[in-house]
Amino acid sequence: MLNQIYTKGAGLPLQGSDVAVAWDGLYWFLFWLSVFFFVLVVGGMIYFAIVYRQREGKKAKYIVDNHLLEATWTVIPTVLLLVIFAWGWNVYKRMVQPPSDAMEVRVIGKQWLWNFQYEDGRLETNKLVVPIHKPVKLLMTSEDVLHSFFIPNFRVKSDVVPGMYTTVWFEAKVPGEHQVFCTEYCGTSHSGMLAKIEVLEPAQYELWKANKPYTLSGVRTISSDIFAARRAAGESTQLKSETIPLPEQGKKLVEAKGCTACHSADGSARIGPSYKGIFGHEAELANGEKVTVDENYISESIRKPQAKVVKGFNPVMPPYTKEMISETEMNAIIAYIKSLK
Ligand code: CUA
Repeated sequence: MLNQIYTKGAGLPLQGSDVAVAWDGLYWFLFWLSVFFFVLVVGGMIYFAIVYRQREGKKAKYIVDNHLLEATWTVIPTVLLLVIFAWGWNVYKRMVQPPSDAMEVRVIGKQWLWNFQYEDGRLETNKLVVPIHKPVKLLMTSEDVLHSFFIPNFRVKSDVVPGMYTTVWFEAKVPGEHQVFCTEYCGTSHSGMLAKIEVLEPAQYELWKANKPYTLSGVRTISSDIFAARRAAGESTQLKSETIPLPEQGKKLVEAKGCTACHSADGSARIGPSYKGIFGHEAELANGEKVTVDENYISESIRKPQAKVVKGFNPVMPPYTKEMISETEMNAIIAYIKSLK
């Protein structure tokens, strides 16, 4: 049963975040504005069709123009459209700009599941655990095809695209279980590509972090039968206890994959640029262009090293395919480079 998902707020999902409340405000404004003009226009049409219908001996008056009427139907819709634009822009900005203190979780979509990779090194499948009242930023990519990550209760959604990183962020304010859907057709089991978000009270969240049993209270807005069926079928929703923090996993990986032969971690240049202090800064390329070193740039430079070569270095690095470095490993490597301030 999709219990509760579509039962709150006059047919809308429950409002799990402040952004959801803001979106619903705009939605209902648009809805009632449309109702008002529908009644005005269609009602007026019916009224005029009846009152001014053709009758024996009555000749219609010829009206050239009416400036007051024309000004009214120009000014009022213009003001209304500008209000809708400003309101929409405002909520959109809130939706796309995560606060700088947001905690980061990396999300990898693949046919047909969601993997969540935490900063402390845990990896969980189809279950995202977050504390209540804390901004959470999801950094998402795909291992195979296009997916789309949608949390109806939080009113946020973004495409999840192979070869690049996209983000959504939210601050949950309702404890309990919230449904995640894949909302981009991605093959046979697209409709079964479900995950849940567990929003925990601070004390329970600390227990989860310490790998101890915790209790989940609050709403249940997930397709619980599907998760129950999966548990019955033996699918583990428990964490695979990889307890090494993500940056440390990345450090081990760059050593194991041989990256350190050409890239240092101390700022000295070898065959390639050093990892140190590059994240978030600009790099000058061989062709004179500038690029900000972020998740997308690092990922591209590992998969297609010749695409944007840093000035002063030769284009000699071989490309690393997904068979050589998986998206999960890529996230750890990026976290490591990011940690080298
Ligand atoms: Cu993944 Cu639809």
